[in-house]
Amino acid sequence: MDLGIKDKVAFITGASSGIGLSTAEAFVKEGARVIICGRNQEKLEEAKKQIKQNTGAEVGAYACDTSKFDQVEKTVNQIIKEYQKIDILINNAGKAQAGGVVDAKPEDWQSMIDVKIYSLINTCKLIAPIMKKNKWGRIVNMSSIGGIYPNPKLTISHGLSAAINNLTRSLSLDLAPYNIIANAIGIGAVRTKNWEENMLPKVRQTREDLANLDDEVIIKQLGQEMTPVGRFGKPMEIAQIACFLCSECNGFVTGSVIEASGGADKFM
Ligand SMILES: NC(=O)c1ccc[n+]([C@@H]2O[C@H](COP(=O)([O-])OP(=O)(O)OC[C@H]3O[C@@H](n4cnc5c(N)ncnc54)[C@H](OP(=O)(O)O)[C@@H]3O)[C@@H](O)[C@H]2O)c1
Repeated sequence: MDLGIKDKVAFITGASSGIGLSTAEAFVKEGARVIICGRNQEKLEEAKKQIKQNTGAEVGAYACDTSKFDQVEKTVNQIIKEYQKIDILINNAGKAQAGGVVDAKPEDWQSMIDVKIYSLINTCKLIAPIMKKNKWGRIVNMSSIGGIYPNPKLTISHGLSAAINNLTRSLSLDLAPYNIIANAIGIGAVRTKNWEENMLPKVRQTREDLANLDDEVIIKQLGQEMTPVGRFGKPMEIAQIACFLCSECNGFVTGSVIEASGGADKFM
C-alpha cells in the first residue's frame, strides 16, 4: 500500500531508542524526511547511525528535552529553518513509572507530568499552527493501554495516559477543520530499554515467583500470562500503526485511541 507520505517532514520525539527509533525507521522507509530528538546527544548519534545502516537514509537529529518549552521552541525553529515545514508529529518521548498513589513520591509524579504531559503540550502548541497554515497535518501521541484499563501497580503512568487520551480527543476536534488528524496509540507490553529499566525491577519486587529469574524468562512468562497473543509486542509493530495513522490513507480515523496490546488489558 502506498501511504502517500513520501517527502512529508516527520518530527519524532524520544526517538533515540525503542518505539521512537523504530517509528523513525518506519517513516524513513516510507520516504518521509525524518527528524529525531532525545536528550542525550551520544544516543542520538548512535540512532542516526543505526537508521543509516538499516535504510541507507540520513535523518536530522536534535538534542532536546521536550518537557522544556524553550528547548522545543529552539528545535522547532531549527527544523523550520532547515526543512521549511512539519507535516507529522509523533509525541513518543516518555518512560514508565511504577507505583500507586500511596507509595509514589511527589517527585515521581512531577517528572512524569513533565515528560508525558508538558512534552505533548509544548510540541502541539508550537507545531499545530504550522500544520494549520499548511492545511495538512498528522499527530500521533504514544499512550498506554493503561489509559483505558488502569492498573494500580502503574497509577502514575496510567493516570497520565488517560490524560493523553483525553487531550488527543480534544486536539482532534480542535484541528479537524484544518485537515489535521490526531490519534493516540494505547500501547501494551513492548520489549524496550524502558521496560527493562523501569518495569522489570517492579515485577521482581511484586512477584516473588519471578524475582530470581533471568530477564528473558520473565518477559516470556509475562507475555504468555498477560497477553492473549502470548507474547510481548515489537517496537516495529507500534511504528507501523503510527505510519498508517499519519498517512494519506487515513483521513477518517481521528480522536481515537488505537489499542495495540495483543488483546491485553494489563501487562504486569
Ligand atoms: N515499552 C512499553 O511497553 C510501553 C508501554 C506503554 C507506553 N509506552 C510509551 O511509549 C513511549 C516510548 O517508550 P519506549 O519503551 O520505547 O522507551 P525507551 O526505549 O526508553 O525510549 C524513550 C525515548 O524517549 C527519550 N526521552 C525520554 N525523556 C525525554 C525528554 N524529556 N525529552 C526528549 N526525549 C526524551 C529517550 O532518550 P533520552 O533518555 O536520551 O532523552 C528515548 O529516546 C513512551 O512514551 C512510553 O511511555 C511504552
